[in-house]
Amino acid sequence: MKKQVLVTGGVGYIGSHTVVELQNEGFEVFIIDNLSNSNIEVLDRIETISGIRPHFEEFDLCDRAKVQEFFKKHSGIEAIIHFAASKAVGESVEKPLLYYRNNLVTLMNLLEAMDQYDVPSIVFSSSCTVYGQPEVLPVTENAPVQEATSPYGNTKQICEEILADTISAYNGSVRGIALRYFNPIGAHPSAEIGELPVGVPQNLVPYITQTAAGLREELSIFGEDYDTVDGTPVRDYIHVVDLAKGHLKALEYTMQNKTVEAINLGTGRGYSVLDLVETFRTTSRTRVFYQIIDRRPGDIAVCFADTSKAKELLNWKTEKNLADMCIDAWRWQSHNPEGY
Ligand code: WQD
Repeated sequence: MKKQVLVTGGVGYIGSHTVVELQNEGFEVFIIDNLSNSNIEVLDRIETISGIRPHFEEFDLCDRAKVQEFFKKHSGIEAIIHFAASKAVGESVEKPLLYYRNNLVTLMNLLEAMDQYDVPSIVFSSSCTVYGQPEVLPVTENAPVQEATSPYGNTKQICEEILADTISAYNGSVRGIALRYFNPIGAHPSAEIGELPVGVPQNLVPYITQTAAGLREELSIFGEDYDTVDGTPVRDYIHVVDLAKGHLKALEYTMQNKTVEAINLGTGRGYSVLDLVETFRTTSRTRVFYQIIDRRPGDIAVCFADTSKAKELLNWKTEKNLADMCIDAWRWQSHNPEGY
């Protein structure tokens, strides 16, 4: 009998890559997604890659009655990987209530249902954004959680607290891990699934690939006056397939009756914006025109992960390098110029 796992937001970027790895490992996957920031075509792509079509239900996890109904119907669910959330930093500043309602209520509805329907494990999608600008680098999980620089970042901090308080109140009947992602980029090597931002890309790599593809005139680099090797900000870019595999390790960890507050999922290496642009240009043999403009408000200078806790507890570390990430991102863009 296959272990059954619910993946919320499983039609999205990181969710879909994680569903592929779960199905490759023999899990039976149920997806709940409201398709607010994803495309139903991804189900066909997941089936193409893994030969299995995951179960799928479309509804909003803010709907408490629908969440209860789902777990009543699927009593075999043993764990949840919770990706479904709003995640655009800039949009969260314009629409804070949408972010607080969506990101907090969905998690609370799931945690309530876990207690009522005996679902013991949850892996929660958090973010390195909780660290703000770390004072010490590489940043460990014990680093102080800094005041959030956006409502989006604040929802991740609050959700981590909701998770920790609930786990402690449920006295061990619920176990969980918050995974703090650094900067996920790249795509599945098959080019069947990848990152497909709605509208103008907010993140660096999709903007680079769309510029290389001629869909954007030029990349704007937000500032070169930071205290870094070349003046541009430094981030810990992690291949989305490495990130997906980290979720499987975290899931196995919580299913072995263990719980822990938070774990960094990063490579442990930092690269500047110009490092990334140059690596992309070299690997894709394309020209990426760019101009340096002013800093983007809210950006930090440098952030990269201390990865020792993930290695020690999950026996997980990344396998792909920056060139792999750029090659796979470009293959995805080239094979899907119009997206799905
Ligand atoms: C990376 C670097 C920009 C676009 C965000 C979220 C974080 C996580 C990952 C969800 C920065 C520069 C970017 C552009 C640029 N998401 N840049 N021109 O801001 O590090 O992290 O996404 O969990 O929570 O905060 O990622 O890709 O937006 O920016 O120069 O057009 O690229 O200044 O230095 P970021 P990003």
